[in-house]
Amino acid sequence: MDRPRITIFDTTLRDGEQSPGCSMNVQEKLRLAQQLDRLGVDVIEAGFPIASDGDFDAVQRIAASVRRPIIAGLARACTGDVDRAWQALQGAARPRIHVFLATSDIHLKYKLRLTREQCLEQARNAVRHAKSLCADVEFSPEDATRTDVAFLCQVVEAVIAAGATTVNIPDTVGYSMPEEYGQLIRTLREKVAGIERVTISTHCHNDLGLAVANSLAGVQQGARQVECTINGIGERAGNASLEEIVMAMRVRPDRYPYETTVASEHLYQSSQMLAEITRVPVQPNKAITGRNAFAHEAGIHQDGMLKNPLTYEIMTPQSVGVPDSRLVLGKHSGRHALALRCEQLGHQFERRELDEVYRKFVVLADRIKKVQDSHLLELIHDVVSGTVSHSDAAGIQARKFPPATATLPFPRAAAAGGNGNSNSNSNSNSNDSHSAHISGSAGPAQVSMPFNDHHAEQEDYLWGV
Ligand code: KIV
Ligand code: ZN
Repeated sequence: MDRPRITIFDTTLRDGEQSPGCSMNVQEKLRLAQQLDRLGVDVIEAGFPIASDGDFDAVQRIAASVRRPIIAGLARACTGDVDRAWQALQGAARPRIHVFLATSDIHLKYKLRLTREQCLEQARNAVRHAKSLCADVEFSPEDATRTDVAFLCQVVEAVIAAGATTVNIPDTVGYSMPEEYGQLIRTLREKVAGIERVTISTHCHNDLGLAVANSLAGVQQGARQVECTINGIGERAGNASLEEIVMAMRVRPDRYPYETTVASEHLYQSSQMLAEITRVPVQPNKAITGRNAFAHEAGIHQDGMLKNPLTYEIMTPQSVGVPDSRLVLGKHSGRHALALRCEQLGHQFERRELDEVYRKFVVLADRIKKVQDSHLLELIHDVVSGTVSHSDAAGIQARKFPPATATLPFPRAAAAGGNGNSNSNSNSNSNDSHSAHISGSAGPAQVSMPFNDHHAEQEDYLWGV
């Protein structure tokens, strides 16, 4: 039987961009939108056109050039916002106007100074107006999880009657618990007339670290769109992380038997690109895309990995696009290795540019021995943006690159090849190897890994097919 399809609505460029230190210019947004297209998301929320001319331009440019996914523009529930969003979306192949209005008493009383009746009327009118312009209209009752449930049902019913095609249920302040959020989605499905005609969407913030759990609970109760961001960036503690949502469904189809069109092998590159653009690094222990997500330090873990990677890895590094760790970037690395890693990180260079990157790379590698992806991205950024002069080796020397972690040689490949001798050798050493890393991740590894057929025989288990 076909698994239900979950629409992945990426709001990195809107909600994500609202997080401190994550603002992007138009060029950067366009570049990331193209990457989101490659990643295979269904909807890109490109911005909030009334918010600034920059936001308007970004939505307009993305709408004109990224043609496969739906491009959404955000609008408050008023004519001016909706018209501005529509103006920005004019050139889109598949436009969506996303209208929002807070519905909780606390927002109505203190922020909007509206009665519930006025709120209901405003939501209905705004959606009706948006619908007169665009067939695809999403409505979000902001702070839905702290809204009186009967009133929430009333608002949702009214906006569906006014033409909304997607109803999004934001846990705006990250207050909900998974069971509670799931129950709310279930109640809406049971109580709201016309709900079967629209897509129910989740939009969960991470203030209690439950954004992904809440989103998945919503999906289990019938939501068919998930709003999320790369690296989980977003207001305050962020949004549900796209990579975690997608991989939870891939790795645990027994619990979450749903499909997405996301090409998971582009997740790492997308994560790194966002970190590079915003210069907000990915936390090392970030699930799926953090530098430590596939690193194994403890001797007991290394021992298990040598015997069978399934002991400590529930997905393959390749399945999320983590580069092959056999390529260690250090001062002895050549241009080819460097060019390949740059490509894996989303940068293709002409010969002259590559020469420049290489020159800087060698200076850096001489100083820090092992060049991590984050270092390389910073260096690429300098070359691309021209912030360090071509011959400025001192500029590179002066940068505060963190030292690479000390790693010990670790013969993982031999063990995984099923060679009994190698296994026993490694076993006997494993307890000495506390500072060693087996890394299939962003950091360099000193050892060659059995990644060509890593976990091959377990693919069925991992991918649930
Ligand atoms: O968190 C929120 O409520 C929002 C809405 C605008 C969808 O971001
Ligand atoms: Zn939000």
